[in-house]
Amino acid sequence: MTRQIIKKADSVLGLPTGDTPIGMYERLVGFYGQGILDFSPVTTFNLDEYYGLPIEHQKSFHRYMGKRLFSKVNIQRDNTYVPNGMTDSVKEECNQYEAEIKAHGGIDLMVLGIGVNGHIGFNEPGTPWDSCTRLVKLTEETRKREFVGLKDPPKKAITMGIKTIMRARKILLLVSGEEKAEAIKKTLEGPITNQVPSSILQLHPNLQIVLDEASAKSLSELSEVS
Ligand code: PGA
Repeated sequence: MTRQIIKKADSVLGLPTGDTPIGMYERLVGFYGQGILDFSPVTTFNLDEYYGLPIEHQKSFHRYMGKRLFSKVNIQRDNTYVPNGMTDSVKEECNQYEAEIKAHGGIDLMVLGIGVNGHIGFNEPGTPWDSCTRLVKLTEETRKREFVGLKDPPKKAITMGIKTIMRARKILLLVSGEEKAEAIKKTLEGPITNQVPSSILQLHPNLQIVLDEASAKSLSELSEVS
């Protein structure tokens, strides 16, 4: 990510939320503090946002991004895009999101995490490969995992589609923790099937993967994905 911004000052980045990328955001903020990175010409597009969850809610991705990155670096707020989960016109919001990505020349670097079921963004198992930004239903598993202890978690989210993600010029997949071991094995060594949405990444021409030891433990070999 740092190299990408240094190489192309006006990079267009696709960004994830969740536990895995927290360390990445801390490093970016650190590099900004040291004067290594300048975010003023950078544009970002977040992968997803819950539908019907107010921006100020502690679990909203707007709030996550504001807290972890946007308020801590010199990025221009007008250049930070996160789907509006409070919109009255979902279709328009989704079409507009795709149009903005296109108008910015596409995503240079898309950073992703994966779910234990192989979801990327909120593209759950069964998502068609040609999906774009749209409103999706969350699985019960995802709702329970993400909203422990919260009554009535959101049932839906707006997410970039598989096609939106695969169009990025470069993808960086971040995976950590033993609970992701099976998912990453299926992602890299299993058949390409939309029952494991992340398995499509095998076909991306410019994919880089960062794994910790725990998540890599089920891989038969640390092989190159060709
Ligand atoms: P996590 O989420 O980093 O919080 O595990 C990843 C995901 O579900 O995409």
